[in-house]
Amino acid sequence: MAQQDDGGSNAAAGSAVVKSEAPVPSPGTAVVASDAFENPGLPPHRLRVTDLDPRKDRVAERRVYTLFYLSIVGSIFAVAAYVAFPIIPGNSASVRLNTLFLGLGIALGLLGIGIGAIYWSKNLMRGDEMSESRHPTRGSEATRARAVEIFKEGNEESGFGRRSLIRNSLIGALVATPLPAIVLFRDLAPAADPVPLLKETMWREGTRLTKDPSGVPIKASDVTLGSVFHVIPEGLNDKEDRLEEKAKAAVLLMRLRPEDLKVSPGRESWNYNGIVAYSKICTHVGCPVALYEQQTHHLLCPCHSSTFDVTNECKVIFGPAKRPLPQLPIAVDSEGYLIAQSDFHEPVGPSFWERS
Ligand code: FES
Repeated sequence: MAQQDDGGSNAAAGSAVVKSEAPVPSPGTAVVASDAFENPGLPPHRLRVTDLDPRKDRVAERRVYTLFYLSIVGSIFAVAAYVAFPIIPGNSASVRLNTLFLGLGIALGLLGIGIGAIYWSKNLMRGDEMSESRHPTRGSEATRARAVEIFKEGNEESGFGRRSLIRNSLIGALVATPLPAIVLFRDLAPAADPVPLLKETMWREGTRLTKDPSGVPIKASDVTLGSVFHVIPEGLNDKEDRLEEKAKAAVLLMRLRPEDLKVSPGRESWNYNGIVAYSKICTHVGCPVALYEQQTHHLLCPCHSSTFDVTNECKVIFGPAKRPLPQLPIAVDSEGYLIAQSDFHEPVGPSFWERS
């Protein structure tokens, strides 16, 4: 029995779970040093030569306003250089000269103000360091009154009110510095009035429709049912500004069965035996509408998927475009070539014209 009891108690001891005490959490890792570093305070103020010698003070003042005047000269030089060295299209030397002198003028204008301001603050404005303790954003009335006082003191110490030559030359430099930017940005606008420039295209009465890009005139008999041609006006390739003109005058030419076309009153003579011509410039934001679905007679703009129905005067049936593609009235001359009857009857391209 004694042996059995021993065996039983051993087994009980083998399966017993030993519970250990939970570790006491650390109170944290922060350590407060007993010997905190003492604020050494600000170093003693050292007077500058301009504080000690009135003659040096005047020399420094002269340097500052000279720098501001140099800035004015630089800005005016930049404007003059922009006019005197214009960019001539196709002449890379003119681009180099224009960029060089314009850049030099603007650099002088900006550096004059920057260096002058730094020199002024380093040599003439009050030079001792001050510390300011943190406080809530809005100070008390007393603090605010003190702030006004400080501004007045700052004005007094910097000499902004007193040193009239520096102040006036700085104001002059600040007024003159943006001048080159105004001249540059003004010159980005087209030289001519943009409204007629964008509203009119090269198409005139009798202008032949030619293939893009070869410029070969198109006969009505060449345009078979279901075919599509990319078209430019005759003579476009001889023009100096042919890309600008092409961007307005590009046309798509298609032939449908006349009975498939819905023609509104006044437009009966604008097609020739089912051959129709529409502007290729999308009325959304001006991408070329270049995809023609022959079966559905839909024109698709690849940019934002505006879809125009050729059977229904290119009205918009899908997408963000807001108005139909303008139609070019066409006819046939005595030799059988397709010609324009006139320019488009409405502006081509983006719909902002509707709102202007
Ligand atoms: S430009 Fe054609 S859909 Fe946007």
